[in-house]
Amino acid sequence: MEPIGQAIRAGIAQIPAPCRPVAEHILDAGGKRIRPFLAVMCGRALGDQSSDLYILAASLEMLHAATLLHDDVLDNATSRRGRTAAHTVYGISQTILAGDAMLAAGNAMVAAFGNPALVACYSRATVQTAAGEILEMSSLGRPELTHGEYLEIARGKTACLISEACAMGAIAAGATREQIEACLDYGENLGIAFQLVDDALDFAPQSQTGKPSGGDLREGKMTPPLRFYRQSLSPQKQAAFDKSFIARSFSDEEAGAIAAEVCQFASHARDLADSCLGNALDSLLVLPQCEETLILREMTTYVRSRLS
Ligand code: IPE
Ligand code: IPE
Ligand code: MG
Ligand code: MG
Repeated sequence: MEPIGQAIRAGIAQIPAPCRPVAEHILDAGGKRIRPFLAVMCGRALGDQSSDLYILAASLEMLHAATLLHDDVLDNATSRRGRTAAHTVYGISQTILAGDAMLAAGNAMVAAFGNPALVACYSRATVQTAAGEILEMSSLGRPELTHGEYLEIARGKTACLISEACAMGAIAAGATREQIEACLDYGENLGIAFQLVDDALDFAPQSQTGKPSGGDLREGKMTPPLRFYRQSLSPQKQAAFDKSFIARSFSDEEAGAIAAEVCQFASHARDLADSCLGNALDSLLVLPQCEETLILREMTTYVRSRLS
């Protein structure tokens, strides 16, 4: 993690000064760094011992951090990584433009590798994340959203970047087509599970996650824990819930009371991650048996049980 942090700091230094305060605001706040970590582990598992992997890793954190800046604007979120969300400090326009600069700066870091396949991965991740976020916007306030529709959103907005991060490590290592496909598959399944758990954690206290609690309810996102809660209601209560959910008109008091109820369904929602995590483990069978592959296996346990 230390060399990943150094590469991220070097990346920030390449961003023009007017964009830097926003970039530092989000990147200096920490975060779990799971996308860069996965890229490095996939690269190492497939035999790449070079320090260049850290630059690739840092480019993925730049991309990810930019999506967080944009996401907090879309979600009207007031906190991120335990800090005040950037758009409430620097304004929406500055934050969006700094996010764009970070996407492009990350792209330049990847392009310097001189390998078009890596640039293609970075582009796909950027494009699919945007598409997933727009798809989600069109689903807001729809109480009847199906699990299939939910999964399509999660695949776009979250899993694609994680999947391409894994593939980029493999490509940098000169892996075979089969190994690259395995890394893509692993990342996609891990990524969907990651979003399922994120949506369970949305109802956990802000002091635990560094993000607002119950934001998905207020924003009209019908995520699995909320769906389970809704299905548990009597027809009359469900109709009342739907009315406020569609209008996004829950009072703070109502939202707090519902969030407390939804917490009971969080473990049920985490259970949905199990089949994806099983698929992720299966994909790893193609990779060499080594310490890094073992760590990639253990990441499934981490994703399942993480608390922030
Ligand atoms: C948050 O990602 C956005 C999602 C895709 C769920 P992380 O949970 O990885 O956020 P940080 O990087 O640790 O802050
Ligand atoms: C994550 O979706 C998607 C991206 C950041 C692209 P969420 O809206 O659930 O992420 P959090 O919960 O705000 O981190
Ligand atoms: Mg959000
Ligand atoms: Mg969330």
